[in-house]
Amino acid sequence: MATRRIPRPAAVAVALCAAALLAACAGASRAGCRKHVAKITEYGAVGDGKTLNTAAFAKAVADLSERARDGGAALVVPPGKWLTGPFNLTSHFTLYLDEGAEILASQDMKDWPLIAPLPSYGRGRDEPGPRYSNFIAGSNLTDVIITGKNGTINGQGQVWWDKYRAKELQFTRGYLLELLYSDSIIISNVTFVDSPSWNLHPTYCTNVTISGVTILAPVHSPNTDGIDPDSSSHVKIEDCYIVSGDDCIAVKSGWDEYGIKFNMPSQHIVIKRLTCISPTSAMIALGSEMSGGIRDVRAEDSVAINTESAVRVKSGVGRGGFVKDIFVRGLSLHTMKWVFWMTGNYGQHPDNSSDPNAMPQVTSINYRDVFAENVTMAGRMEGIPNDPYTGICISNVTAQLAPDAKKLQWNCTNVKGVTSDVTPKPCPELGAEGMPCAFPEEELIIGPRKLPKCTY
Ligand SMILES: *[C@@H]1O[C@H](CO)[C@@H](O)[C@H](O)[C@H]1NC(C)=O
Ligand SMILES: *[C@@H]1O[C@H](CO)[C@@H](O)[C@H](O)[C@H]1NC(C)=O
Ligand SMILES: *[C@@H]1O[C@H](CO)[C@@H](O)[C@H](O)[C@H]1NC(C)=O
Ligand SMILES: *[C@@H]1O[C@H](CO)[C@@H](O)[C@H](O)[C@H]1NC(C)=O
Ligand SMILES: *[C@@H]1O[C@H](CO)[C@@H](O)[C@H](O)[C@H]1NC(C)=O
Ligand SMILES: *[C@@H]1O[C@H](CO)[C@@H](O)[C@H](O)[C@H]1NC(C)=O
Ligand SMILES: *[C@@H]1O[C@H](CO)[C@@H](O)[C@H](O)[C@H]1NC(C)=O
Ligand SMILES: *[C@@H]1O[C@H](CO)[C@@H](O)[C@H](O)[C@H]1NC(C)=O
Ligand SMILES: *[C@@H]1O[C@H](CO)[C@@H](O)[C@H](O)[C@H]1NC(C)=O
Repeated sequence: MATRRIPRPAAVAVALCAAALLAACAGASRAGCRKHVAKITEYGAVGDGKTLNTAAFAKAVADLSERARDGGAALVVPPGKWLTGPFNLTSHFTLYLDEGAEILASQDMKDWPLIAPLPSYGRGRDEPGPRYSNFIAGSNLTDVIITGKNGTINGQGQVWWDKYRAKELQFTRGYLLELLYSDSIIISNVTFVDSPSWNLHPTYCTNVTISGVTILAPVHSPNTDGIDPDSSSHVKIEDCYIVSGDDCIAVKSGWDEYGIKFNMPSQHIVIKRLTCISPTSAMIALGSEMSGGIRDVRAEDSVAINTESAVRVKSGVGRGGFVKDIFVRGLSLHTMKWVFWMTGNYGQHPDNSSDPNAMPQVTSINYRDVFAENVTMAGRMEGIPNDPYTGICISNVTAQLAPDAKKLQWNCTNVKGVTSDVTPKPCPELGAEGMPCAFPEEELIIGPRKLPKCTY
């Protein structure tokens, strides 16, 4: 099989690096340019779209993990179609997808071994018990970069969607990329398509930068959420383009009693310049799994087209946890069913042991500077009986109505808050106040100020 070749000597890698970009390479290792570079072909991979390269990826990562403490390593995937089963990443590591490189996920379920469910979910999200592997995964890693010249990671999810719809799956589908307990992650200038289920799932992670990423899935594919930061903090999502069959972004933090017990919030999350198309779901959802809490999410300067709702709070009795200090400004929305949507009776519980007294606390949710056109209904705001959603603030919003718009534009139950300069006129539960809603003045610094620019 594969002839095991030692990755190129450091001198060559440094020379390559120098040829690429002098400024960025000064301080190479700290700035993310790796000392060791190897191509997946050096491990025997064949990019014909047919040869199964699982062993080559496993071997490459195992080999390059030995370089972690010596300046790190980059694994280059050249142009071609590289079929493989799931594989894991390592620390101080760059997965570099060249222009025209496409990593294809095997459609044979035998290539997807079962793994343990997440502790904050207690079971797989689709089905009880364990779950199928995630396609690209990593646990307890630091300093991981997935980048390149806009190569593609293709989950080939159709077989999974078909089986899921036919209720033929005994276990939960894998995610396209899941990193657990990891720090200092950069995902930049790559495209993810046709995930079996959620696309990017950073969980129990810190310092995650996702930028210049394209995520594509058919708009009716089941649960193909774009980016789901889950019990993670300091996550920055910038300049991403997402078309999906579920929420473009869903911030989460564990499920009912498992999430309450695990008790790890998602917090300090920045979302900027997102473009979203998701006709059956939200541009940004908060929940529905939010049992460890969600706080300090700042979303701005984003566009949604033909999307069901904009920034939606989803929760329910049994979830516990909280959603608070959410700040949204500068949305441009085109064809929306509900500009504002809050849901207090979201179903879906992991089992029958959810605590009926675990009431979510939803408060301080701020929206300002929103323009929407072709809107069916401005606000569908449902809190929880005896547990209202409070501190809602909405200011400077214009929703231009669709020809078939609802007569009732705002339907509010169990919510309290204030509005100013909002058209059409809000419900009485959201009384007029005349003040712009809050948005934190100080910028949150997440990840490196400048992304490392390295060419391999
Ligand atoms: C990836 O690592 C996890 C442990 O973190 C392990 O359970 C799993 O089997 C590994 N997957 C592969 C494909 O090696
Ligand atoms: C990763 O870290 C977590 C939390 O510290 C720990 O519980 C788990 O055992 C570690 N997993 C691996 C594969 O090292
Ligand atoms: C990256 O590739 C995707 C899919 O081919 C494409 O839609 C997107 O525009 C590309 N991004 C850039 C920056 O070229
Ligand atoms: C909950 O209990 C009902 C019967 O009381 C049972 O039919 C159902 O399968 C249980 N649900 C779960 C998720 O365990
Ligand atoms: C109101 O929002 C629009 C964007 O929809 C923005 O251009 C405008 O500057 C905002 N007005 C004020 C007073 O902030
Ligand atoms: C307006 O929204 C309706 C759905 O309510 C849709 O059918 C129609 O195509 C949209 N019009 C435009 C111009 O986008
Ligand atoms: C308003 O919302 C409540 C649920 O919060 C629902 O029961 C009621 O039917 C809605 N009213 C209209 C007119 O849509
Ligand atoms: C996250 O990054 C900042 C610097 O950007 C650093 O101070 C902090 O220690 C990092 N967090 C973790 C958990 O490594
Ligand atoms: C992604 O592309 C942008 C724009 O060309 C560039 O500024 C950024 O450094 C690139 N990201 C990485 C990790 O190379």
